Amino acid sequence: MVESKAVVDLTRDEARAELDRLARLLGEANLAYHTDDAPVLSDADYDAAKRRNAEIESRFPDLKRADSPSDQVGAAPSEGFGKVRHVVRMLSLGNLFEDDEVAEFDARVRKFLNLGAQDPLAYTSEPKIDGLSLSLRYEGGKLVQAATRGDGEVGENVTANALTIKDIPQTLQGAPDVLEVRGEVYMSHADFAALNERHAQTGGKTFANPRNAAAGSLRQLDPKITEARPLRFFAYAWGDLSAPLAETQFGAIERLKALGFQTNPLTKLCETPQEMLAHYKSIEAQRATLGYDIDGVVYKVNALSLQQRLGFRSTTPRWATAHKFPAELAWTTLEAIDIQVGRTGALSPVARLKPVTVGGVVVSNATLHNEDYIEGRDSKGEPIREGRDIRVGDWVQVYRAGDVIPKIADVDLGKRAPNAEPYVFPKTCPECGSDAVREEGDAVRRCTGGMICPAQAIEKLKHFVSRGAFDIEGLGAKQIEMFFHDEVLPIKEPADIFTLAERDAGNLAKLKNRDGFGEKSAKKLFEAIDSKRKIPLARLLFALGIRHLGENGGALLANHYLSWAAFESAMTSAEVGSGPAWEELVSIDGVGSVLAASVVTTFHQAAERASIDRLVAQLDVEDVELRDTSGSPVAGKTLVFTGTLEKMTRAEAKSRAEALGAKVAGSVSAKTDLLIAGPGAGSKAKKAEELGIETIDEDAWIALIAGL
Ligand code: IVH
Repeated sequence: MVESKAVVDLTRDEARAELDRLARLLGEANLAYHTDDAPVLSDADYDAAKRRNAEIESRFPDLKRADSPSDQVGAAPSEGFGKVRHVVRMLSLGNLFEDDEVAEFDARVRKFLNLGAQDPLAYTSEPKIDGLSLSLRYEGGKLVQAATRGDGEVGENVTANALTIKDIPQTLQGAPDVLEVRGEVYMSHADFAALNERHAQTGGKTFANPRNAAAGSLRQLDPKITEARPLRFFAYAWGDLSAPLAETQFGAIERLKALGFQTNPLTKLCETPQEMLAHYKSIEAQRATLGYDIDGVVYKVNALSLQQRLGFRSTTPRWATAHKFPAELAWTTLEAIDIQVGRTGALSPVARLKPVTVGGVVVSNATLHNEDYIEGRDSKGEPIREGRDIRVGDWVQVYRAGDVIPKIADVDLGKRAPNAEPYVFPKTCPECGSDAVREEGDAVRRCTGGMICPAQAIEKLKHFVSRGAFDIEGLGAKQIEMFFHDEVLPIKEPADIFTLAERDAGNLAKLKNRDGFGEKSAKKLFEAIDSKRKIPLARLLFALGIRHLGENGGALLANHYLSWAAFESAMTSAEVGSGPAWEELVSIDGVGSVLAASVVTTFHQAAERASIDRLVAQLDVEDVELRDTSGSPVAGKTLVFTGTLEKMTRAEAKSRAEALGAKVAGSVSAKTDLLIAGPGAGSKAKKAEELGIETIDEDAWIALIAGL
C-alpha cells in the first residue's frame, strides 16, 4: 500500500482525493477478486483500506461518497456465490462455419431420424446472442433461483442479482408449476459505451467488450452493483419443467413471450436449409444495427418430439447448432515469435504483435500453430499462403473468430524488410534444454523432457486446476506459477495441492503473509482444495492432462469403467495394440486407438504412474452414478443391433438404448445380453444363436422401450 499521512493530518482536499482513491481501489479489488482468478489485494491490505476509508469518513462525514465502500453489503471478498446443481444440464452448441454446412446439418438430422429428403422438417433460426447464459427457476409462478451456466452441471447462484434485471419477470401468470427459463444476459452497445465512459471518468475499470461487461456485472457479490448496471435478458430455451410449454420450439418461444419474457424478434420458422441460410444472411446484414452483439445464428429443430428423439451428444444437442459469423481481420506488425511449451510438451510458436483492434478487441498475441505453418506448408507438405513464410518484422494479417485464439492468416511480402531472416524453429526445449523432436506424421515438435521439464509440469498443473477439471477456487494459473516456484511450500505435481495444508502444519504459518495471501484467504484456499477431494471419475480422467484425452474422452471412459478401481486395473493390464483389456478399451464407441494408446502408455510410464498414484491416494473418486434407469428393462445390459432397422435409425436406437442405461456393442460375444436383429441379419444372429443369446426383432425392441 502507498505510505499515507495520518488521518488527523489530512486537509479537506486530501481527504476527498483519498476517499476517491480508496473507492476506486476497493472497487477494483472486489472486481478482481470476483471475476478474475487472482485478488489484487491481500486480505490484510483490503481490510486496511476499508478501515482507513471509514476513519476518513468519520472525520469528514460530509465528504462520504454516495457509493462509499463502507455501505457496500456483501462486498467483502471472503464470500463467494453459492453453488447450484442444474436439474437439467446447461449445454453448449456445436458450430458450423460454412454455408454448405447448413444443408449438411439438415442431412445429419434427417439421417438420424430416418427422414427422406422430401419429408417436411422445420427449424427455427434466431440470432446467437453474445452474452452469458442464465437459468431462471420459477416455482408456483415465482422466481426462486437464478444460476449461471458454470460448467454446465453446477453454476453460481446469482438470484439476488437476477432480481435486479428489468427484463426478468419476478412472477409469472399461468406458467407451469415448475419452469426453468433459460436465456442470455447481455448489454446493449449504447449501455456498454455509457458504462465504460462513466468508469473511465471515475477511474473505474473499463471493459473490453459488452459480453465481459455483462459477465462482470452479473457476477457481483453486491446486487446493488448489478442493479446499477443496465443488463438485459433474452429467453430462448428452458430446463426443468412440470408441464410442456408447447409442441414446437417456435410455440414454446411464443409462450415464453406471452409469459412476459423478452424473446428475440428475429426468430423465424424455416422450412428448408435454403430458408435458414437466407435468414442467416439477413441477420448478418442487420448485425451492425441491432444494437447488441451477436456472433452467429442458432438453428433448432422445431418439433419438440423430434428434439427429444435426437437427444444429445456428450456436451451438445443433436437438434441444434450454431452457424457462426465469419472471422474478423486486421493487419499489424509481427514483433517477435516466442515459443511456449504446453502440457504435452508441444512447442507452440506464439506471435507477439503490435497491438491492433480486431472486431472491437485489442489483440497483441496470436497463434502461429507449428513450424510448418510458419514456413508456409500444411501438415501434408502442401503450400499454404502460396508458400509464403512468416518472418519477424513482417506485416501480417490477424484473424479472429469469436472466442477462438486469434491466428496469423497471411503476410504481405511487399512490406518485408530486405534483411528479414527466415525464422529458425528451435530444436531444443527453450524451458529445459531437452531435445525437441518431431515424430513421424506429427506436425508438432515436442520437448522430450517429460516430468523434468518445468514448463510441462506447470502447464499440466494449470490444466489440472482449470474449469472442466478440478476447478479449485482461488487456485488459478497465477497461483500455480507462484506455488510452483515457491521454496517453502512448492506444488510440483497435482498430489502436492492436496498435501498443501498438511505441509503447512495446519497452522497457516507458511502460507499466510505470502504474496496475496492473508489468514482468511489461506484458510479459504485450504477449504476450497478440501472440497475438491471428492471428484467425479470423468473429471479426474480429464484433469490428468493425458494427451488426446479431452472432456469427451474422460466421459466416455468413465461411463464405461464406472469406477477408478476398474479403470486403473484395466489400464494396468492393457498392452498397446493387443489383448482383451486393449480390445475392450478400443471397443468403446468414440475411443480410437490413438487415445487408447496414449492412455495405456501413460499408465505404463513409471514416473507418471507414481505421480497419478500419489494423487489418487489423496482423493475420493466418485463412481459414475448410473442414470435413474429403474423401470428400464435394458439397464446395465449389453445390446447388439444387427440387420436393417426400419422404424428407427441405428444411431437413434443406440442413443435410446444408452439413455436407458444399456451398453451398445458392435459385435456379439459371451457378454452380449440381447441381440436386436432386423431383416438381413447374418453372422451376428448366427453367433447369438450358438451362444444362446436372446434375440428379438425391431418391433419387439420398440415394444420393449415403449413409454420409457
Ligand atoms: S440454445 C441446448 N439459443 O450460446 C442448447 N443458445 O454456444 C441451448 N446462446 O450456452 C442453447 N444465443 O449461452 C441458444 N439463441 C440462442 C442463443 C444461445 C446465445 C449461447 C448460450 C449457449 C451458447 C452455446
